[in-house]
Amino acid sequence: MSIEVDVGGLKLGSPMIGASGLWGFGDEYADLIDLTRFGAIVTKTITARPREGNAPPRVVDLGYGLINSIGLENPGIDRFVGETLAAIDVPCDIIVSIGGETVGDYASVASRLAGEGGVAALEVNISCPNVAKGGIAFGRDPEATAAVMRAVRAETDLPLIAKLPPLPGCVEEVARAAEAEGADALAVSNTLPAMSIDIESGRPRLGGRTGGLSGPALKPVALFLVHRLAAVVGVPLIGVGGIETSADAIEYILAGATAFEVGSVVFKWLNAPSDIVMGLEEYMARKGYGSIEDFRGRAQL
Ligand SMILES: Cc1cc2nc3c(=O)[nH]c(=O)nc-3n(C[C@H](O)[C@H](O)[C@H](O)COP(=O)(O)O)c2cc1C
Repeated sequence: MSIEVDVGGLKLGSPMIGASGLWGFGDEYADLIDLTRFGAIVTKTITARPREGNAPPRVVDLGYGLINSIGLENPGIDRFVGETLAAIDVPCDIIVSIGGETVGDYASVASRLAGEGGVAALEVNISCPNVAKGGIAFGRDPEATAAVMRAVRAETDLPLIAKLPPLPGCVEEVARAAEAEGADALAVSNTLPAMSIDIESGRPRLGGRTGGLSGPALKPVALFLVHRLAAVVGVPLIGVGGIETSADAIEYILAGATAFEVGSVVFKWLNAPSDIVMGLEEYMARKGYGSIEDFRGRAQL
């Protein structure tokens, strides 16, 4: 039995990937979590210039999910390439998430990373709801998505993953645009625009006022989109949203995903990633599946 997968040319020893923004640069968790169970970790989104992020509070825990308003805090591409990248030492691949306010920003970040060793793929974040410019503004517009992906594709031969927002009204056209302009895989999805209000103060609970919903509340929506997109695009899909157990991950694979990302669960259970892969292997053994492909997309039938 093998859990190796090929995600658009990116060959991973495990279908489990650490979602952007939850694992820092991987190293932070090296002593706490068995990173050998991961196929890859996606870095925090890196932008052309450093970003301080949004005002605190930046995370609200609703119990059934989180709303975050981090605002893409990151050191910027110069410091990332000059200091961080070479120091990352993890036993799995590193996928760098890139973001920007303009098409040119995305292209310049991709071009800085093109010649660097240690980068297995780029995840193009066209879906962050927590920034005033860029982010989700690209991912809800097929033409803007096409422009970003075309510009990034022109700068690099690395496998490209387009990370989409969970917006059912436009996601099919956006997915097709990303695929047509060179995306090798699609990550579905980023967080859902959301907010929470403190009824005593009458004020939004987040410093950034609004944020993005992740965790269990997001899962049925992202799962629906993976199932829908698996019938629409030919490139591999990566399921993201609310995965806490192996059963959650298996649902995404049955919906059509080749791989999956785990994020917010790290705030709850540090051993969740290891349990997820162990449960996946037990399920495959019990069902007699020799590979992920043996059951991927079965719920499409
Ligand atoms: C605190 C926090 C920070 C995040 N930062 C990023 C980010 O920098 N870039 C990005 O593409 N997604 C970011 N995300 C979204 C996650 O990568 C993921 O798409 C989302 O949380 C859904 O997965 P989950 O329910 O397993 O957390 C962030 C999510 C959280 C909760």
